[in-house]
Amino acid sequence: MPAISAYAPGKIILFGEHAVVYGRPALAVPVLQVKARAAVLANVRGPAGQVRIEAPDIQINCGLHDLPSDHPFQTLVFMVCEALSIQSLPALTIRLSSTIPTASGLGSGAAISVAFIRALSAFLGHPLSDEQVNALAYETERYYHGSPSGIDNTVITYAMPVYFVRGQPIERLKIARPFTVVIGDTGIKSPTIEAVSDVRRCWQSETAHFESLFDQVGQIALAARQTLENGETAALGPLMLKNHELLCEIGVSAPALDALVQAAVAAGAQGAKLCGGGRGGNMIALVAPENAEKVAQALQQAGAVRTIITEVK
Ligand code: PMV
Repeated sequence: MPAISAYAPGKIILFGEHAVVYGRPALAVPVLQVKARAAVLANVRGPAGQVRIEAPDIQINCGLHDLPSDHPFQTLVFMVCEALSIQSLPALTIRLSSTIPTASGLGSGAAISVAFIRALSAFLGHPLSDEQVNALAYETERYYHGSPSGIDNTVITYAMPVYFVRGQPIERLKIARPFTVVIGDTGIKSPTIEAVSDVRRCWQSETAHFESLFDQVGQIALAARQTLENGETAALGPLMLKNHELLCEIGVSAPALDALVQAAVAAGAQGAKLCGGGRGGNMIALVAPENAEKVAQALQQAGAVRTIITEVK
């Protein structure tokens, strides 16, 4: 039996990270240049029920049950079996790989989960619907984010631009005119769960101040949505810079992120901001297409370990 594979893209949050956990709107788009892959193979000689996991990128090569009981891969296998009412699995190997940098704000955890669920359910003969995949992927996001808003699993499952409000029906984000973004990676790994937990502690001790910051971020996301729908892309730059300032006040930026934002602007970007959980990971810069290479080089000179140029449409 041939291996069954599935892929899922990375993502960037254009506006609204962190505030989205507290019910404010956020905008996110898939990034197709990076992706996670899951492949499921039958082990014809293995005993029934033996599940192996091979994920060389994160140094995992073991039996499923050798992983901690709360590990997302255990949860994913359990949830897929439950969703399909399957009591016992044949012997199989699940191979995972990804070009999405981990703990860097590009949605690597959610992408692995989505690819994993799709490949395993297809292997078992019952591919789950996007709605089911999204719901299961959300459950494993708890492991990566603590209290996830659900934006990562949503934009990655549907692989389309989304206007996202926690708990509300998914809306496709209309983008009247495509635009170009340069993504710059600080190379600093920063688990989202830590930034999200720190923000929660600050919100608990200074609730009124943080609610006001989240309100301002939410208003920026709303204004950006309008701007994108009207095709007034030039107006996005200042909104990005304002969003970055607010993320600094929320306490999730880092000197390396601020340096990349400044370098992008100095090289002619119309706006820039950190992207995702922050403290490290990636930032994004809005650029004219003809200026993309120049901004990417400026980011590399300022310390970015990797840049991606992507068209958002
Ligand atoms: O760091 P990432 O790519 O996992 O993005 C997290 C986005 C947050 O708003 C910080 C958390 C969330 O669950 O929405």
